[in-house]
Amino acid sequence: MIQNVAEEVRRLMSADKSGHGFEHVERVWRLTRLLAEKENADCKVAELAALLHDCDDYKLVGVEKAEELSNAKQIMKNSHVPSAMQEKVLNIIRSMGYSKSLKGIRPTSLEGKIVSDADMLDAIGACGIVRCMQFALERCNQYNAPIFEKNVWPERNLSAEEYKMPNRRSDNFVNHFFEKLLKLKNMMMTDSGKKEAQKRHQIMVDFLDNFFAEQGLDDWQRFLHDYLDE
Ligand code: ADP
Ligand code: NI
Repeated sequence: MIQNVAEEVRRLMSADKSGHGFEHVERVWRLTRLLAEKENADCKVAELAALLHDCDDYKLVGVEKAEELSNAKQIMKNSHVPSAMQEKVLNIIRSMGYSKSLKGIRPTSLEGKIVSDADMLDAIGACGIVRCMQFALERCNQYNAPIFEKNVWPERNLSAEEYKMPNRRSDNFVNHFFEKLLKLKNMMMTDSGKKEAQKRHQIMVDFLDNFFAEQGLDDWQRFLHDYLDE
């Protein structure tokens, strides 16, 4: 059943290159299995949610269709996932994601917490830096925008609506770390997730610190350290 779902998700997502491709899903799936084992959770439900969590992402299907979760529902139906299990999986998917957390929506089941942690862990650390770079490069090509502007500082507290706004002034590769990625460590919901997030957070801090140091950007280095002290 799980392999079947994985195959369908792979087919659906293989076209996308925005950092939402199947490679992300495979990493989240793997992390989910690791966390589920450590936290003694229902592995099947967590694995299904991990595989299906980005099938109806608003960036793929549009904001209106995203809420329907039609891709996730169709794939589970095709793979004969029992209906009680389908409900649990859909509830997890409805409760996860950074934009939803900005609106106060967070997973409540242990399996949901695990998949949410796994998804956020893949946005930070070395893989997170690469995904952020991939996303930013696409955006730069689309809007002919630079990867980093030393005079454009990050926004302090973005609302869910502001965060989703396309071509926002402060939106670039470096600012995305301050506007989202450096906050994810404190949003982990399981002990194993928290532990892994510490390591991955430090990788981003070291990367940014050196990126600024190599360019003699003392003000950005100070900004980073003040940000981290807050
Ligand atoms: P997730 O699938 O982890 O919930 P998102 O859907 O928010 O993450 O974004 C997909 C990936 O693209 C993430 O790794 C995220 O950090 C990156 N990303 C999203 N928005 C931006 C942006 N404005 N600039 C750079 N990277 C971004
Ligand atoms: Ni994801």
